[in-house]
Amino acid sequence: MLRAPLSLPHVGLAIFLDFNTRLSWQKQRAIALCRIYIGLGRPLNVPFAKWAMMAMIMMLQGETQPNSLPSMNIVDLRQTTVRQIEPLLEEESLHWRDELHWDYRGALELIKRFLEARALSGCVAYENGTAAGYTFYVMEEQKGLIGGLYVSPQFDQPTIARRLLEEMLYGMRTLPNLSRIEAQLMPFGGPVDHPLKELGFQLYIRQFMLLDLNKPVEMRSGATTGLRLSRWNDRYFDPCAKLIYLSYANHIDGDINDQYRSKAGALRFLKNIILLPGCGQFVPGASFVLHMPGSDDLLGAVLTSEVSPGVGHTTQLCVLPGHQGHGLGRALMITAIDALLGLKFHELTLTVTSVNHGAVQLYEKLGFRTLKSFTAGVWPR
Ligand SMILES: CC(C)(COP(=O)(O)OP(=O)(O)OC[C@H]1O[C@@H](n2cnc3c(N)ncnc32)[C@H](O)[C@@H]1OP(=O)(O)O)[C@@H](O)C(=O)NCCC(=O)NCCS
Repeated sequence: MLRAPLSLPHVGLAIFLDFNTRLSWQKQRAIALCRIYIGLGRPLNVPFAKWAMMAMIMMLQGETQPNSLPSMNIVDLRQTTVRQIEPLLEEESLHWRDELHWDYRGALELIKRFLEARALSGCVAYENGTAAGYTFYVMEEQKGLIGGLYVSPQFDQPTIARRLLEEMLYGMRTLPNLSRIEAQLMPFGGPVDHPLKELGFQLYIRQFMLLDLNKPVEMRSGATTGLRLSRWNDRYFDPCAKLIYLSYANHIDGDINDQYRSKAGALRFLKNIILLPGCGQFVPGASFVLHMPGSDDLLGAVLTSEVSPGVGHTTQLCVLPGHQGHGLGRALMITAIDALLGLKFHELTLTVTSVNHGAVQLYEKLGFRTLKSFTAGVWPR
């Protein structure tokens, strides 16, 4: 293919830009576009030339941008005070509230307490002295869990998110006995798929779904006729852990969360969602188990938490293999929805792995819609 020859001004511009090493990301983007443009061998058009000139003038004037990358430094979270990153935390909680209807303040209070105790591992990116983003992880035995990653949209999110992940993972991988890292990250802080993939993670797409409880739900059920359904009681911890372990055998969610792969892990998962506030406040009145006739074992369960006033979150739904596909999952969901309506809730949310087609179809048929897709990552692949 014939290319138009580069004219001198093109080359001059490219050389000029190449000599400038301390550039803001806008300037770098200008350069990248110049290069693409030059690579395409097209003559400069007027608006583009004007824009490129602006970039040059900005550089000549030594103009400083709040988000210029060279001034970015990454600091260990344990060397950071709550006050320094509080604006970032507040901003993040607005995303959780506005986009996911989730009151994240409880989780942030926990993060702050850990920060104050200098007990939270992770790092913060500072740009010109302002906290631009942060990420943290917690250890669960030999597993590292990346609990959050947030970069303010006022800064270059992709670049900072990548740097934060690189720095933190570099540190994590030096930990003795670390055998696995899991991450489930809401993409408020910029895209994380590419950096995670490049850092050796296996990625899974998950969906955050929402049901408006004020809209009528098709309450067709009846599948539980003759079966005993009970409200949650702490005596169900053990049988429910067994149910979860059996329900997720050879299941994609067992690849994402290894707690599902053993009964002890499933019990830890249950204790986390029922006893700890990380995933909202457990609502026993909207959580049910379905009994196996003539046995202490369970056939199914649906568990619900409250993530903000009047907004529920299904933290678990499962039916024992061999009993799936007979309407029990739908019946459990309808029972929980009915209970939530009685408790004056107005919304219900949940997360599901996109390739879990049966579950996605069930939720869509009930009226759930996807609010956001996000990425779960597991290392090593
Ligand atoms: C997902 C799960 C809870 C569904 O419960 P279930 O009792 O098998 O589902 P139901 O029989 O109530 O099905 C209800 C609807 O879901 C859809 N569905 C359920 N399983 C399906 C499958 N394997 N393929 C396609 N659609 C499916 C159907 O559209 C069905 O609608 P229909 O009654 O109009 O045909 C159950 O299969 C399970 O425990 N799976 C393993 C754990 C899991 O994935 N939990 C959900 C995590 S988000």
